[in-house]
Amino acid sequence: MQDGNIRVTPATAAASAASGMTGGPAVVCAGLEKRYGEGATAVHALRGVDLTVQRGELLMLVGPSGCGKTTLISVMAGILDATDGTCRILGQDMTALASRPRAAFRARNIGFVFQAYNLNPALTAAENVSVPLRICGAPVREAMRRAEAALDLVGLGDKTESAPGDLSGGQQQRVAIARALVHEPQLIVCDEPTSALDHANGQRVMELLRRVGTVDGRALVIVTHDARIFDFSDRIAELDDGRVTRVGTPGAARHSSGPSSAT
Ligand SMILES: Nc1ncnc2c1ncn2[C@@H]1O[C@H](COP(=O)(O)OP(=O)(O)O)[C@@H](O)[C@H]1O
Ligand SMILES: [Mg+2]
Repeated sequence: MQDGNIRVTPATAAASAASGMTGGPAVVCAGLEKRYGEGATAVHALRGVDLTVQRGELLMLVGPSGCGKTTLISVMAGILDATDGTCRILGQDMTALASRPRAAFRARNIGFVFQAYNLNPALTAAENVSVPLRICGAPVREAMRRAEAALDLVGLGDKTESAPGDLSGGQQQRVAIARALVHEPQLIVCDEPTSALDHANGQRVMELLRRVGTVDGRALVIVTHDARIFDFSDRIAELDDGRVTRVGTPGAARHSSGPSSAT
């Protein structure tokens, strides 16, 4: 199956304008803060994150459990409100958008692979993958055809009719990855996309993400603990206690204690 088989065009000119095809960086976080709760029990998950991801770049985000990785990518994807600071995605300040336009922007421009997959158990694999296309306004048959092509790309062409409950963890993870790619978003964000995959499938998924996730000015941000996939990245950002402590090349990260000691 060719990559070109998962292709969607913006439904409206306004949506296209809102897609932020500005040529600037894909992600610019500046002074990003996130606090959960108030007062003495507040958890300060992000403590001033400055981070830029260029178009065409695959950036990995590493760090110990609880350091704020999921929080950071959730703010990037507009799933979570920041407490302070700004996060511009494709030129759009996510922190300035109200929830409805933010959800519309996210549906069109961002693919998100959740750590727990978040598949709908009542839908087949293909129906799950078709959801972003349906949200973008694609007709059912076209959405299903593209969903099946995307499943084929992740090696699940024979599982299109399966319910998530009938799939292994690794297969569910690949369904979630197909769903994040199917609408060809400009930014793909993945929370531990290879954690349930064996070595061969992990490499295969990373080759696919690398191939389709960074072409045409797209960008990819991947949270991972999996040192086997570091070499697929352009840069690795290390996060500790809500701050970016270092940004470097995969080779440098491999020799530091940060990523390899992460749990
Ligand atoms: N919904 C929440 N409510 C309160 N605290 C949270 C919530 N989500 C995460 N946290 C806390 O914020 C910190 C960062 O969490 P998280 O972003 O999930 O880290 P990581 O993905 O690096 O493991 C942790 O201390 C975690 O317990
Ligand atoms: Mg996490």
